[in-house]
Amino acid sequence: MCSYLKNKQLLVLWFATSVAIFVITQTAYAISLDTWIQKENAIAKKFLFQNISPPGTTPGVIVASPSTSNPDYYYHWVRDSAIVVKAVLFLYKTSQSPQDRRQYLQDLRNYVNFTQAIQQTAVEDGLGLGEPKFYPDGSLYKKPWGRPQNDGPAMRALGLINFANIMIRQGEKAYVKHFLYDSKTPTNSVIKKDLDYVLNHWKEPSYGPWEEVRGRHFYVDLLSKKALTEGAQLALELGDITSALQYLKQVYLIELELARYWNSEKGYIVATLDQDAGPNYKKSGLDAAVIVAVLAEGYNDGSSYSISDERILSTFTALVNEFQKIYPINNPEGYFPGIAIGRYPEDRYDGYQTNSTGNPWSSLTLSAALFCYRLAQHYQTEQKPILITQINLSFFKRLLKSESLRVGERIMPNDSLFRAILNSLKEDGDRFMARIQAHINEDGSLSEQINRITGFQQGASHLSLNYAAFLLAVGARNSLQMH
Ligand code: NOJ
Ligand code: NOJ
Repeated sequence: MCSYLKNKQLLVLWFATSVAIFVITQTAYAISLDTWIQKENAIAKKFLFQNISPPGTTPGVIVASPSTSNPDYYYHWVRDSAIVVKAVLFLYKTSQSPQDRRQYLQDLRNYVNFTQAIQQTAVEDGLGLGEPKFYPDGSLYKKPWGRPQNDGPAMRALGLINFANIMIRQGEKAYVKHFLYDSKTPTNSVIKKDLDYVLNHWKEPSYGPWEEVRGRHFYVDLLSKKALTEGAQLALELGDITSALQYLKQVYLIELELARYWNSEKGYIVATLDQDAGPNYKKSGLDAAVIVAVLAEGYNDGSSYSISDERILSTFTALVNEFQKIYPINNPEGYFPGIAIGRYPEDRYDGYQTNSTGNPWSSLTLSAALFCYRLAQHYQTEQKPILITQINLSFFKRLLKSESLRVGERIMPNDSLFRAILNSLKEDGDRFMARIQAHINEDGSLSEQINRITGFQQGASHLSLNYAAFLLAVGARNSLQMH
């Protein structure tokens, strides 16, 4: 009797505590997403700039993470730094503080100088511009590694073209023609060097963005196409018609190649084709890298695989559904807001070693938020009917939590359903943000991964990519004019 009572009391106590913890944690992030975002915005900026030219390194270096062991990420990764530069450019364009803007500009110029140096090193000491990483003093990492990685030069060119356009508008054409794009072949100017590399090498197999598999990657091809498209524009603007035509000719050929990645049976874009090296357990081909590639420049230009392309929407749905299913932390549905997103379902890298189990990633969950905000922005600006197709049906059904949508339905801009789509996209984006809020470290820092069972941060601490993704997502969120 006595022990029965005790057990019952314990049970009640346990239940009350669980409810209390649940209520406290829920309200902690439910009531204050806006406040949290504002606070984290300042923190993310601070942490990001701690990774740009940290003390004792060459100016212009951007380390992937300050972590020097378990794992060692204290390198200038061409891929990571190119993505960080997009966030710096965004800050430069939107900041109201002249002092901050001067600093951002200086960082960008340093990055250009550092890039010029490592491009030369990659050619002289390595296999060329596909070399993926450098020590913070600018010397080449020569140990065994997946190389070449051809997304690096493409992503870097995209950021720098953006920078070149800003500089041209600010009357700095001479700077652009000297350092960024000099119209010469061979060249020492950074953008042209990257573009010429992409021009001559996109057809070759390469390691993908996760540095594991060699083959043809949607990620590399789409970025190559975008780099050469934007590059041709810049070349034209600077009077280099010969290069512009060369770039555009390859754009056309890449376009043909890109058509191969859509798998209509699976209902999503398959990330890799013609694999010829690397682990063989990546069977599904489902991969969040597809979404990251779409979000790079030109995501809104209406060309194939731009943000509202039905194949992209359907791939996004497949990813969300799959990660919901496989990560315990995503269940039961609704316990935490949103869905934590990882690299790909078969992932075995846990942030420390590769023979383990993969987890959700902070930067990818934030990229999912960015995707929702940008899609909302796209529909909002475009004001065109949204057509429900066989391929995008699953996306809109999930978004609107509605079973009544029909293939062939046209949702007009003045329709209340159109408004509902915009609102739901904003809310969906907010749920991905709130998910980060739920798992972030107390000091506002973010590591590479989120443990799939406990929800705690793990892997490389202070990953630059996380802060860049956060700042870009917030920027897109702020530019939405809702309600
Ligand atoms: C192994 C991971 O699988 C790969 O994706 C990563 O890039 C490297 N380790 C570097 O940390
Ligand atoms: C592992 C990721 O797979 C890769 O994309 C990234 O470049 C490195 N870590 C460094 O952050």
